[in-house]
Amino acid sequence: MKYNLIFLTAAASAVSAFPGMKDLMADLGKRQAETATVELLGDLLDGATTPVGQEVKDCLLGNVACQDPSKKTYAPPGPLGSPACAEDTCCVWDFIQKDLTDLFLDCDGTCNELARGAVRFGFHDAAAWSKTSGFGGADGSLLISKDEILRSENQGMDDIYAAGNDLLAKYSEYGIGAGDLVQFMHNTATVLCPLGPRILTYVGREDSENNPTGLLPDTHSPAPVLIELFQDKTINFKDLIALIGAHTVANQQFVDPSQAGAPLDSTPGIWDVKFYNETLQATPPPGVFRLPSDESFKNDNATAPGFTVFSDPVTGQTTWNAAYSVAYVRMSLLGVNNINELTDCTKVLPDQVFDFTPKACPSSSSSSSYTSTTSTTSIQILHDHTTMAPMVTPAPETDSYDSYGTTTAYVTVTVEC
Ligand code: HEM
Ligand SMILES: *[C@@H]1O[C@H](CO)[C@@H](O)[C@H](O)[C@H]1NC(C)=O
Ligand SMILES: *[C@@H]1O[C@H](CO)[C@@H](O)[C@H](O)[C@H]1NC(C)=O
Repeated sequence: MKYNLIFLTAAASAVSAFPGMKDLMADLGKRQAETATVELLGDLLDGATTPVGQEVKDCLLGNVACQDPSKKTYAPPGPLGSPACAEDTCCVWDFIQKDLTDLFLDCDGTCNELARGAVRFGFHDAAAWSKTSGFGGADGSLLISKDEILRSENQGMDDIYAAGNDLLAKYSEYGIGAGDLVQFMHNTATVLCPLGPRILTYVGREDSENNPTGLLPDTHSPAPVLIELFQDKTINFKDLIALIGAHTVANQQFVDPSQAGAPLDSTPGIWDVKFYNETLQATPPPGVFRLPSDESFKNDNATAPGFTVFSDPVTGQTTWNAAYSVAYVRMSLLGVNNINELTDCTKVLPDQVFDFTPKACPSSSSSSSYTSTTSTTSIQILHDHTTMAPMVTPAPETDSYDSYGTTTAYVTVTVEC
């Protein structure tokens, strides 16, 4: 059979191996559950021809979990550079994972600004792609092209850009690619941030410096515009509102420079569901900043239910981690056309942290900004501040979305199976 899309609801109801997802499908977007579609990606549109292709397909369609919370048992078969290590595609990534653990955690066990940067960086590299862009996506361009990091939408990621390039310089002789590294940094950051998911992690992407412009979201756009922007990347509104929860580990610098450094929830070092809870409140807690786009999502009929589902004090974290993993595996494969040839290296990721209490730090320790180790990448990054968006505008009224239901009534659906 040849189809291009399937009903999300149809895919979900066939699933029981995936406890959180069932409730999610029942509750999230009740009104519009029938309108969310799940599409396949890249070469999977021509069929899953390998076990890894089938695994990715099953994960994207909701038939198996897109995360692996099991405890790590992997040990590298030999030292870095040894023949045994070179023979195991995942081996070098285990060494990279160790470096990232040193970079991403603060002494109290929370994740730091480099981890937050890595989460955003993975998104910004991958999302410079659409179904019609023809190129771009999770190709490492944000790390290796000269100009992409200079764009206004990529402001504030200089440290993770430098750290990523240092790792690329250190490990490229062992055959790693930039696109893989960028997504590996994202997935290592999410599992290191306490409570975050251990997302299925693939390597083997093709790198490219080319990347389309104008495909990243503007925080001043209303929810329906943003929903459509992501739908054009195959990311439906349910995926989108799960992904937005990444703002649980986020600070803002440039939306309101007078509040530079303000977090988007009260615990920016923990992958918890407070972002959803606190965004639901009429006003954010003191010191917490709310992006206009997040306010708009909260007030949009398609995305509002996600805030309630994911902020649930009992089931929210589990449900959200599962949903985020589904949506992020998709994100991490945008523009990737050799999915059948990838290798699953999830096994090298650190253990997930299911319960978290901050540890006491040695009194002398302090966090400092990243210092690049390679001269080639420690370049001065100058951004064009003139293109910065104007200050926060009030979020539009809910009523202004009254015509929205019709614009997302995606009903027709076909899938490649
Ligand atoms: C409609 C979609 C989105 C919009 C409009 C948006 C907008 C923004 C803005 C304006 C900031 C603050 C930037 C600054 O002033 O420094 C931010 C930060 C951040 N965003 Fe998003 N975002 C979106 C989706 C996402 C997604 C899908 C992810 C990840 C999967 C993500 C991850 C982050 C992270 C981790 C930060 C914090 C970065 C840091 O603290 O260094 N965002 N986002
Ligand atoms: C948010 O969390 C607080 C504190 O746990 C709780 O009292 C409140 O009901 C929650 N709000 C929502 C909308 O879940
Ligand atoms: C959104 O929900 C509100 C409240 O339930 C309703 O009044 C409004 O008509 C809905 N809008 C759309 C576009 O369905």
